[in-house]
Amino acid sequence: QHHNIIAPSILSADFAKLGEEITNVIDAGADWIHFDVMDNHYVPNLTIGPMVCKAIKPYCKDTPIDVHLMVSPVDSMIEEFAKAGADIITFHPEASLHVDRSLSLIKSFGLKAGLVLNPATPLSYLDYVIDKLDLVLLMSVNPGFGGQAFIPSILDKIKDTRIYLNKTGRDIILEVDGGVKIDNIAEIGTAGANAFVAGSAIFNSPDYAKVITEMKNQLRK
Ligand code: DX5
Ligand code: ZN
Repeated sequence: QHHNIIAPSILSADFAKLGEEITNVIDAGADWIHFDVMDNHYVPNLTIGPMVCKAIKPYCKDTPIDVHLMVSPVDSMIEEFAKAGADIITFHPEASLHVDRSLSLIKSFGLKAGLVLNPATPLSYLDYVIDKLDLVLLMSVNPGFGGQAFIPSILDKIKDTRIYLNKTGRDIILEVDGGVKIDNIAEIGTAGANAFVAGSAIFNSPDYAKVITEMKNQLRK
């Protein structure tokens, strides 16, 4: 069983000093660096791409870079991010015409692969590709922006997904992204998540270590 993973989303970091922000958040206890890629096509916002991933890689040292692709099409970006130092790549199945092929492409680079399900996307998207998944990322907000509120109905979806994943008998990580805070992380963990993306909760705070430590304490309860 995996220990709980805290994955700060650098979407809410200060992009003018990204290297320093990454060093600080890793020193503060980050387990993964969550890297949100938005293309102003699949989602209505534009963020950072493979060049920025390559630039931050030396600052991440041994901490995995968790690339969340909110782009369409996805395959060319999988290849670029593999070259740029990504360790984990997830994408939204409805953004790829050939989901199985895209997953195989991620695995062909030796990376961990996952699918991202939007709040209204059903679990059945996992059915025929589950053998290729190392993780499932459930969106608890609609993708595109940091700082949105956690959608409460996703707690039931996390429970359903945990049951679904346990039936495989494999150790597939269940990651949750959007509106994760100190005051709701315990119930998200109890519902069955074991990886937690948090952007604004960490980077809008003056003390990253305090937030991450408190999140981990909440998960021990
Ligand atoms: C939203 C992104 C999230 C976002 C999370 O599309 O995928 O990773 O940065 O930010 P918070 O934690 O502020 O909701
Ligand atoms: Zn994300």
